[in-house]
Amino acid sequence: MIKRLRGTYDVLPQDAIKWQYVEDVFSVILERYGYREIRTPVIEETSLFTRSIGETTDIVTKEMYTFLDQKGRSITLRPEGTASVVRAFLEGSISPDALTKLYYWGDMFRYDRPQKGRYREFCQVGVEAIGSAIPALDAEVISLAMCLLETLGLKDLKLNLNSVGCVDCRRVYYEKLKDYFNSSTVVTMGKLCPTCQKRLEKNPMRIFDCKEENCQRTIEKAPTIAESLCSNCTLAFENLKKYLSLLDIPFVLNTRLVRGLDYYTRTAFEITYEKMGSPQQNALAAGGRYDNLIQELGGPPTPAIGFAMGMERILLAMEIAKVNIPTGKKVEIYFVSLGEVAFQEAFKIIDRLRRKGFYVYATTSGRSLKSQLREADRLCVGYTLILGGDELSRRVVMLRDMENSTQREIPLKDLEDELAKL
Ligand code: HAM
Repeated sequence: MIKRLRGTYDVLPQDAIKWQYVEDVFSVILERYGYREIRTPVIEETSLFTRSIGETTDIVTKEMYTFLDQKGRSITLRPEGTASVVRAFLEGSISPDALTKLYYWGDMFRYDRPQKGRYREFCQVGVEAIGSAIPALDAEVISLAMCLLETLGLKDLKLNLNSVGCVDCRRVYYEKLKDYFNSSTVVTMGKLCPTCQKRLEKNPMRIFDCKEENCQRTIEKAPTIAESLCSNCTLAFENLKKYLSLLDIPFVLNTRLVRGLDYYTRTAFEITYEKMGSPQQNALAAGGRYDNLIQELGGPPTPAIGFAMGMERILLAMEIAKVNIPTGKKVEIYFVSLGEVAFQEAFKIIDRLRRKGFYVYATTSGRSLKSQLREADRLCVGYTLILGGDELSRRVVMLRDMENSTQREIPLKDLEDELAKL
């Protein structure tokens, strides 16, 4: 038997209800904050991701699903949404002067080591606010992320905050990092792994992402970006903290939070849910500013900020927090028909009822009364309608309340009105 691929999963009907609930709650809140939905393709030119996420990141070096198409072009299944949204923003010439607020849902693909909360195909919901550099927007975006998670009933969330500075801060910081990692203290602690040795030359901040024990040990004492922030970045960070305080949003400063994508400037944040265990899988949401990305992808200088959340992790967190998912009351009816003539009449009535908005289930093959009632039980419907030859000749139908096992006859002509009262 063919099995699903490692790192993928099926959403079975009983779980799909939970997904739909989160999607419904989120869509309303996102629109309330002024975001409009955007949908982009799952496949893009590989260079879109190498250029935006960065050549030395784990995502680009190890995790992308890349293949050549029939014409030999390098194509990649999107590992994240920001690059595609920026590409679409530029290609679609969406009003570049105003603040553009976009949100998206979609499957992302990363060839990572699968474990609980980490998949190779996973679903992100993300937002991108394009066109403003003011720190109040950063606070608003973070507030939106908190609002989405808290509205689901998740508590004890931790907001980890950092500023990764701008190109100028980074220039100063890289020199400090190089000095540190080449210093005798570090060298005596043992060599960096071969990947990090390359990172030291090309992009030393990426060393912070390394999971190797020896590299981790050296990172602990490494200088942080905080001491290298320029005055503008320091001021922006102070303002962000001020706005967060205005909104009563507590945060924890984490000067080692650098994020695994290269496009970030200034604000970087992660919202973690510690009850989920392993720090590698407990980030429910993560994001930050990317003030240079739009220009790097060929657009005019345009500051922007956003975040993305992993749907699987959110659902897992809801399970841990024992969040009750409201099922939403809808009247579900199973239509039992007996004999070919009654079936044909039922066939018409069922179609009419569905068009009027009722949830009507029925078999399309002539089954016994017992078998149809068993099916109604299995589907846990609230009501059953029964139409046999006798009922049909009297132009009535039997309505059975499945919960209290009572039944009554309803004239066929009154059926819609009576069902509407249930
Ligand atoms: P990211 O940190 O790579 O950022 O992913 C964001 C969130 O997606 C994570 O915090 C996590 O909840 C979820 N996630 C990531 N990888 C996996 C995985 N393998 N399995 C399950 N869930 C996962 C980004 O993707 C940026 N594009 C976020 C952003 C938007 N920054 C600015 N705008």
